[in-house]
Amino acid sequence: MNNILSQINKCRIVPVIKLNDANKAIPLADALTAGGINVMEITFRTPIAKEAISLVSRERPDVLVGAGTVINPEILQSAKEAGARFIVSPGLNPATVTASLEADLPILPGVITPTEIEQGLMLGLSIFKFFPAESFGGLKTILALAAPYGNIKFVPTGGINEKNAADYFKSDKVLAVGGSWMVPEKLIDDGNWEEITRLTKQAVMLKESSI
Ligand code: 3PG
Repeated sequence: MNNILSQINKCRIVPVIKLNDANKAIPLADALTAGGINVMEITFRTPIAKEAISLVSRERPDVLVGAGTVINPEILQSAKEAGARFIVSPGLNPATVTASLEADLPILPGVITPTEIEQGLMLGLSIFKFFPAESFGGLKTILALAAPYGNIKFVPTGGINEKNAADYFKSDKVLAVGGSWMVPEKLIDDGNWEEITRLTKQAVMLKESSI
């Protein structure tokens, strides 16, 4: 497995982040680190995503920062320039996947069907985001999708939280669990780093008790 994806597997939690203010990127990285998570997916859902990724990449090199909501090769280029170490997309866009692999950036494109998985396999992928996980059957669907394809794994996101994450953590078909439950937009906007650290620690404890 690619080294970056191994690091994500080791952490096993991917906070999915929507940042409205680039100045919050470093305190947020520190709040997550204090809680025991050294991975961040900063989504291109706001115009400051590139700046935020650059800041974390430059000032917190021990944090594995990736770019989310990368829905076309242009955004991929911005993510690359910012120093993103991995790429996440809500869907599987072959042009984005190809550009990402050419840039030597591991990519987790979103899939929910066997057809999309087979498209990804043809592009050389074996690890996918499963999105939106809870709306499409959760772990039950992951296990059913994994069955015919051998060694594929998923990063489920969408509707996962402290109440339903445990089952995902237990599955060997799950590389890592993604979600915003420990980084809600309002807590970030309010700069409530203590609460984010508390929620992060809670997520880490849940992961550890689910092994
Ligand atoms: C994503 O893009 O992965 C999701 O929007 C995260 O989903 P959540 O906010 O329900 O955790």
